[in-house]
This record gives sequence, structure tokens and C-alpha cells, in this order.
Amino acid sequence: MKVSVIGLGYLGATHAVAMAKIGHHVIGIEPNQAKIDSLKTGKAGFHEPGLDEALAEQIASGRLSFQSAHDETSRTVDVHFICVGTPQTKGSLAADTSYLHAAIADVAPYLREDALVAGKSTVPVGTAALLTKELSAATGFAAVNLAWNPEFLREGTALEDSLRPDRLVVGVTNQRSEDLLRQVFEPMIASGIPFLVTDLATAELVKAAANAFLATKISFINAMAEIAEVSGADASALAQAIGYDERIGNKFLRNGVGFGGGCLPKDIRALMARAEELGVGESVAYLKEIDKINIRRRDRVIALLEAELGTLKSKRVLVLGAAFKPDSDDIRDSPALEIALLAHRAGAEVIIHDPVSLPGVAIKHPELNGQADLTKAFDSVEAVVLATEWKEYRELDPNIVSAVVSNKLIVDGRNVLDVAKWQQAGFRVLALGRTIQN
Ligand code: UGA
Repeated sequence: MKVSVIGLGYLGATHAVAMAKIGHHVIGIEPNQAKIDSLKTGKAGFHEPGLDEALAEQIASGRLSFQSAHDETSRTVDVHFICVGTPQTKGSLAADTSYLHAAIADVAPYLREDALVAGKSTVPVGTAALLTKELSAATGFAAVNLAWNPEFLREGTALEDSLRPDRLVVGVTNQRSEDLLRQVFEPMIASGIPFLVTDLATAELVKAAANAFLATKISFINAMAEIAEVSGADASALAQAIGYDERIGNKFLRNGVGFGGGCLPKDIRALMARAEELGVGESVAYLKEIDKINIRRRDRVIALLEAELGTLKSKRVLVLGAAFKPDSDDIRDSPALEIALLAHRAGAEVIIHDPVSLPGVAIKHPELNGQADLTKAFDSVEAVVLATEWKEYRELDPNIVSAVVSNKLIVDGRNVLDVAKWQQAGFRVLALGRTIQN
């Protein structure tokens, strides 16, 4: 089939590659010329394992091309996927859907009456119905085909998640839309991936609900961590024990510095804002606490450091990690970066290391000292905070770094270190959610 993918950020670039990989002819459309130039050379422009290779492969196959705006070729497209961003609005909890409205206005003049527009962006429930009206008005068609097909990919495993999702969800208003989506995803459906057909509102809400549930699970275990910290219990052991109950499950139950990134934080806030607009704010008012528990974990790291070092003024503190999770260079709402900034604000001289995201940190936060050499980063520091669980940090040899630090103190913000090994090398080890005997 012929598909277009509108908006080539994380979601769009990955989806475009995935669509080409399963055999469709894909036109990627993105107004940012620099992004187009980069994509054409096989570079997605962000760190995602395996994506650049797959991108180059699909460009070489002749099935994937990029352009900066719609033109006559858009009339040959059967399904237009909209993948533009819906960031948090400045000064409000709500999602900013302006890029979506613009994408609808842009595609309308080129839309065939039998073609489909399928939104993939994460949106406040009710957005698709609104966009359907806008598309009807702009095209004059008696019935427009507009569907919602939320995406559940995770950064770090984006392509794999796109190609082999746990489920496909499509919200539609007519049979034609469903048929086209069944055709697009045919190889995935044939491989046994569940294909759920719903109305528009349900499909929109599935995505918001899934992310709210995941955020709740993480904050739940981090709330238990707060209780563990004052009672002498161990939140990691507790997570393991409750996780054996299949109804609870052990995934997304790792306690630590909490969740960040471009999705979970903004999505729970957008859900609260939308519920409020719909007059049912109380239904998800608890998400405010979920957000607060999450933010408090960052403060807890600073409190632990201050309890050990007294004031942080002029203390050299190394933060390991800047990205919100490993295998990503995304620093949006990153707990690691926020901890570095909090330490800086408390007067510390902060050194920050990350395997891939330091260039982004340097642009946004020149006040932090980025150090790309991991061994050098430990030089003369008085405290280390492991804030993102990159493999290179989990595998660090404490005997090597103990020779260069000024003070052997490490805070394990992700509960991934071999405590005994670090203690044998002379370190005092502190962690979130448990009290370690040093
Ligand atoms: C999340 C969802 O997992 C995806 O299903 C969804 O498609 C995506 O948002 C989106 O809306 O686009 P992502 O933000 O890439 O994916 O990353 P996650 O793997 O969900 O991790 C989010 C944060 O939670 C990270 O900061 C991670 O360190 C943290 N986390 C995760 C924990 O603190 N504890 C855990 O047990 C798991």
C-alpha cells in the first residue's frame, strides 16, 4: 500500500521505517528541512538502537522517501498516518494539539475521498472527533475516513515495539477505515498480534489509560519506598515479593529516582486536564499524587547527599546519566538531569556523564560540567549518584574508580549496583527505598 507518515520525530521516524519494513511504500513528511536532510542520509537524528541501520536499509529498498510538504504524490496515498507531537502546553497541564490541527489542514487539499487519515499521536479524548469535523469542513466530503491508532512503543526498543506490539488498537467510525487498517497491518495481524477495533474515544483513551497505569505502578512502588526508608524495610525486596503475584506482576515495579521522558509525565498531566474539562476531574485527581511522589524521589537523592556531606556548597558531585532511561538520548523531564540541576542549585560543582546525551545537555544546561570520559568523570569527586542505569554504570569496577575519587560515597538511584562489591572497595553505598548497613 502507499502510506504517508506526517511528522518525523521519535514516533513518526520509527513508524515510517516499520511501515516500509513490512512492505509498504512510505512518504515521510516533515516541515523541518534539517530533519529531512538528516533522514535522507539514514540518520534519524536521535539515539535509538538499530533504527539508523533499518532506516538506511529501507531507503535503499526504494520504499521509503522523505519530503518537506505534501504535493501531488499525496493524492496517491491510501493511508496518511499523523505522528506529530502533542507536548505539554506552557503554563498548563493540558496537551498542545496545535500541530495536529495544522497537519489536518495541510493534508486536506490532497486527500482522496476513499483514503484514510489515521492519527497516532497521544491526544486528549475527544480530539479525533474534533479533527473529523475539521477534515469534513476542509474537504467537503460527505463522509471522511478518520481513525485513531495509538502507538505504544518505548524509547530504546522503538522499532521492535512498532513491529511486534502487544496489541494493535484502532478507533474507527466506518467499515472502510477498519478495512484499510486491517490491510496496512496485515502481516502483523497474521503473526497473531491482537487487533482491537473500537470507537474513536476509546482508542484515544486506551493510550492515556495505559500510560497513567504505568506511571501509577512506578509511583506506587516509590511510595512504598518512602515507607521503607523510615521503617527499615527494603522496597526492592518488597517489589520482588509482591511481583510474584501474577495479578500484580513484577514489570514496571522498579523503585528508584522515578519516571521521566516525553511521555509518562506529560500524559498523566494531560489526562488530569482533560478529565477536569469533562467535569470528572476527581476521577483522576489521584494522578496529582502520582506526579508528586515521582518528583519527591529526586529531592530524596539531594537529601541523602546533604545528610552525608552537610552542605553541597562547593562539593564535587558526579551524576551518572542524563537521559531519562538507558539506550536513549532523550533528556526531556529526565530524573537524572533534574537531580544534577538540583545539586547545582544547592551549590555543588556538578559533573555529569552520559554515554550519548551530553551534547543535548551542553546546549540546554551549560552550567553543568559534562564529562564524556567515564574514568575522568570520577576525578576528585566527593559523591557519585547513579541516576540512569546505563550498562556501563552497572558494570563499573569500583576498585578502579576508588583510586581517583576524593570521597568514597555512591548513591544508587536505580538499585542496580552490587552493594557488597562497592563496599569491599571502600565505598559507603546509599540507595533509594532501603537502608544499607555500611
Ligand atoms: C512509555 C510507555 O512505556 C510506552 O508504552 C509508550 O508508548 C510511551 O511512553 C509513549 O507514550 O510514547 P517510554 O517513555 O519510552 O515509554 O519509556 P518507559 O520504558 O515507559 O520508561 C519511562 C520512565 O519510567 C523511565 O524514566 C524509566 O526509568 C522509568 N521506570 C520504568 C521506572 O522508574 N521504574 C520502572 O519499573 C520502569
